[in-house]
Amino acid sequence: MNKTFPELERPSFTVQDLIQLLERHYGLCCKLEELPGERDQNFLAQEKKGETYVLKISNPCETLELLQIQNNAFERSAKLLKKGEIPKVIPNKNGESLSSIISKDGVHHWMRLVEYIDGMPMAEYRPHSRDFLMELGSMCGAVTKALHEIPASPPSRKLLWEMHNVEETLEEYMLWIKDDKLLGWVKNSLDLYSRAIEPLESKLRRGWIHNDFNDYNILIVPKISGSPDLGLIDFGDITHSYLIAEPAVACAYAMLDKPDPLEAAVLLIHRFHQHFPLEEKELEVLFPMIMMRLCLTLTLGEFQQKNDPENEYLGISQMPARELLERLQEVNPRFAHYLFRDACNMEAFPSSNKFQHSFKKAEGSFHGLLGKPLNPEKTVILDLSVGSSLSAKMEGISLEKQKEILDSYLLENNAELGVGKYAEVRSFYAAKDFLNNSIDGEEKRTIHLGIDLFAPSGTSIYAPIEGLVHQLQDNHNELDYGPTVILSHKFTDGTEFYTLYGHLDGECLKQLKIGQKINGGMLLAKIGKSNENGGWLPHVHFQIILDLFDYDGNYPGVAPPSRKKIWCSICPDPGLMLGLGSESTAEEIDSEKLLNRRRNVFGPSLSLSYQDPLVIVRGQAQSLIDSRGQFYLDCVNNVAHVGHSHPKIAKALGNQAYVLNTNTRYLNTINIEYAERLCNLFPEPLDTCFLVCSGSEANELALRIAGTVSGQKDMIVLEEAYHGNTKANIDISPYKHNGPGGTGPPKWVHEIPMPYLYRGLHRDPETAGKLYADEVEIICKKLSENGKKPSAFISESILGCGGHVPLPDGFLKQSYKHVRQHDGFCIADEVQTGFGRTGKHFWSFELHGVVPDIVTLGKPIGNGYPIGAVITTKKIAQSFANGMEYFNTFGGSHIASSVGMAVLDIMETEDLRNNALETGNWLKEQLEVLKTSFPLIGDVRGEGYFLGVELILDPESREPAPLQANYVVERMKSRKILLSTEGPGNNVLKFKPPMVFNFNNAQHLLSGLEHVLGESPLLQ
Ligand SMILES: Cc1ncc(COP(=O)(O)O)c(C=O)c1O
Repeated sequence: MNKTFPELERPSFTVQDLIQLLERHYGLCCKLEELPGERDQNFLAQEKKGETYVLKISNPCETLELLQIQNNAFERSAKLLKKGEIPKVIPNKNGESLSSIISKDGVHHWMRLVEYIDGMPMAEYRPHSRDFLMELGSMCGAVTKALHEIPASPPSRKLLWEMHNVEETLEEYMLWIKDDKLLGWVKNSLDLYSRAIEPLESKLRRGWIHNDFNDYNILIVPKISGSPDLGLIDFGDITHSYLIAEPAVACAYAMLDKPDPLEAAVLLIHRFHQHFPLEEKELEVLFPMIMMRLCLTLTLGEFQQKNDPENEYLGISQMPARELLERLQEVNPRFAHYLFRDACNMEAFPSSNKFQHSFKKAEGSFHGLLGKPLNPEKTVILDLSVGSSLSAKMEGISLEKQKEILDSYLLENNAELGVGKYAEVRSFYAAKDFLNNSIDGEEKRTIHLGIDLFAPSGTSIYAPIEGLVHQLQDNHNELDYGPTVILSHKFTDGTEFYTLYGHLDGECLKQLKIGQKINGGMLLAKIGKSNENGGWLPHVHFQIILDLFDYDGNYPGVAPPSRKKIWCSICPDPGLMLGLGSESTAEEIDSEKLLNRRRNVFGPSLSLSYQDPLVIVRGQAQSLIDSRGQFYLDCVNNVAHVGHSHPKIAKALGNQAYVLNTNTRYLNTINIEYAERLCNLFPEPLDTCFLVCSGSEANELALRIAGTVSGQKDMIVLEEAYHGNTKANIDISPYKHNGPGGTGPPKWVHEIPMPYLYRGLHRDPETAGKLYADEVEIICKKLSENGKKPSAFISESILGCGGHVPLPDGFLKQSYKHVRQHDGFCIADEVQTGFGRTGKHFWSFELHGVVPDIVTLGKPIGNGYPIGAVITTKKIAQSFANGMEYFNTFGGSHIASSVGMAVLDIMETEDLRNNALETGNWLKEQLEVLKTSFPLIGDVRGEGYFLGVELILDPESREPAPLQANYVVERMKSRKILLSTEGPGNNVLKFKPPMVFNFNNAQHLLSGLEHVLGESPLLQ
């Protein structure tokens, strides 16, 4: 027997013995299956009637007193937690919660039966999302609250895994570690812990804790919507110890396998604190304590594995724990401490108030950074935030051009100096170094932690306050600081801090010496040129730092938005030192307030995407950028056809606005040339154009033309079709008039079933086209029987709102034939699918070898500028001209025409149709491959950059999976990939990105999708 920890010897009852004992004590006849257990013997007990229990035979060392405490713990936590979160104890035939049993060797044990808690171990559950980790924190906090005051005295003897004994335990067991690296990490961690705990040991709160929130004791029932259900089992390690050890243990396991382990711990602690408030001193030891739990796991793991190589459970968490311990060696413990303080709503930097007090007291004593106070008359505050046009204009262009823009901005504002704000969200930190790993993929560091002064290179920089040269370094990487000086300072009351000066002239690195005294007002350096300052326009970045951590010569100047509060606490606003007021501090957009304002001012029928709506402040090519400067890959915006905020579109729009923007009542080359260019893109005889302002307007006009020319009103439409938001368009849109709030079709609208190969009435691709077209013919014939004719048949060439459904071969050809035989017109709605989106052709009706009589255009035509068009034949247009003038105030305006031409130019110069064809085909193939691994994917379809992925619950019934589709959309959004659902069952993931979506984007989309499809709620 193990001398130090006799509990390491497990009981060894046979299944047969236990079946009899269960019968005797509980009157239950069960099947038993052994479960893992380190010290106790555990079994899954399945009773014939179907009830399931867990049978636990305690280690002989377990005292009755401790087992009773465990029972008390079960009861107390069950009161505070939801049903099913904590197992209930089942009383034996005598109504007792524990039964006394004797083993074959005559050793006494206690037997206990508890309710079985359903779920998969947290170690196997995915995703460990932000919400999930917070739920875990809630549960841990609630359990701590429930247990800590159990009225029982602490156990008299030492138990393994107790945090208050950890130093002793590690000292004793470390000798079993054969791996030097691991031994080194354990020793370092122990050293860190000993130093942290020593002054606080007697001050930390103690009480009863569960002490084993490990990732196999937490059971999860995955849910497709809402938070998963969490359960906690195994109260066998309950002990009386530091209360902070409870969340420390939970953190140690929650941090395993995470891209940023501290992020996971912070989320857990944040919620823990809401349920069981932590004290400042507890947070001081939390990080080293987390390391201690990892050290215990690894050290005891090494020991136990040698003693019991057969026991799989022992090795389960070793590798991830080892990796985590290694990674934590790199973490500055003070930084972790500040993070935890912030998570508990305390000021992150503990002495922040003290600094602010001294800083304010020193106001007025600072020397000018540029040698004299900034002249407000000649200084302009720049808006370089992610949503500003100034920063958008300066991105992606040469430094010379950036300089021109900045100079002209200064000139316009009669200023000599530009000030870049503190705490501003900026999107231009594009280098890899500015990316942080996070649970939701990469997080860009975007929050500016200093103030920038934009002045010519060679401008002298003076020390605003006395100090010592602390660090000097040339940070020469692209988009880094270039030559950098860090000074250390002390206020008269002893408060220490640092100031950082970045983007300097390299000469200062030769002139200054580490340790050199610098008087306030003394010349320090000069502003560097762009070729030495990291590749920026000349400016100085000035930052105050309260804790330098281990940085040497470089220091983050921008922070990730999720850590804005912490970094702003460590690097406070330096405006005061520069004589600047609050105008140089950026204000944050409050999304809650914005949502309320929107609700107050817009009608509620206007919907918002996503459970937690995005605040989008900028678009850039295939990305949308939120107010935190984070880039989202836009997979659903076919309006921003040539890319969001394309500079050539902006230029075309802006330039024309300077010149002329009026209607078509005057002769002018611009709208004529545009109409000619559009018509040239169509096959004969489509040669005549009407310019309107939207897809809806285009379809309205198409209806009017068809009605006027045919003298008929009846329309043939497709089930689930959508053609626009006006009254007449709703009438011809079954998607709307048959949907929520709709009142059904008017008498003149006749609907045919959706020609849907995957789910529709006819599914054989050989015959479906004809069979669906027969439905068109039936309507035409019925109209004839009533002495009427169709005015027109309208259809998209791949159905958008129907769920990105391609039409079966021959359907359009034969439908057109039937309609024309009955003198009706054929309208192709190309609002969604036009302009090369489907890859093979410029127009999607060309996929079907037909030529419509009227084509309607919208969405991509103006890349977001409201333009629409109707293209028809000369003959039809002439018949439409029956004396009634067609006038459209804005249609064909000069700005619209200039923008429309720019779209066509970009399509050509950037070869975007071909991109949609090649990358779209590749993506579709890869989605087909994904389908073979995930039965949730029922169908992959579409052309080019107009694809649909239909999700189903069962391959046989093809029952739609709308909740799963919504889950995918929300989870992809949290990975910063924007998708959306479509189709009558809301179960089709739609893909119709800006045409500049590239191969890397497609790969990123696929890997995100693969990841999400593999998450537990989708695999049930
Ligand atoms: C196929 C189709 N036609 C017409 C329209 C109407 O276009 P708009 O909303 O730009 O007026 C839409 C809009 O979604 C559409 O999908």
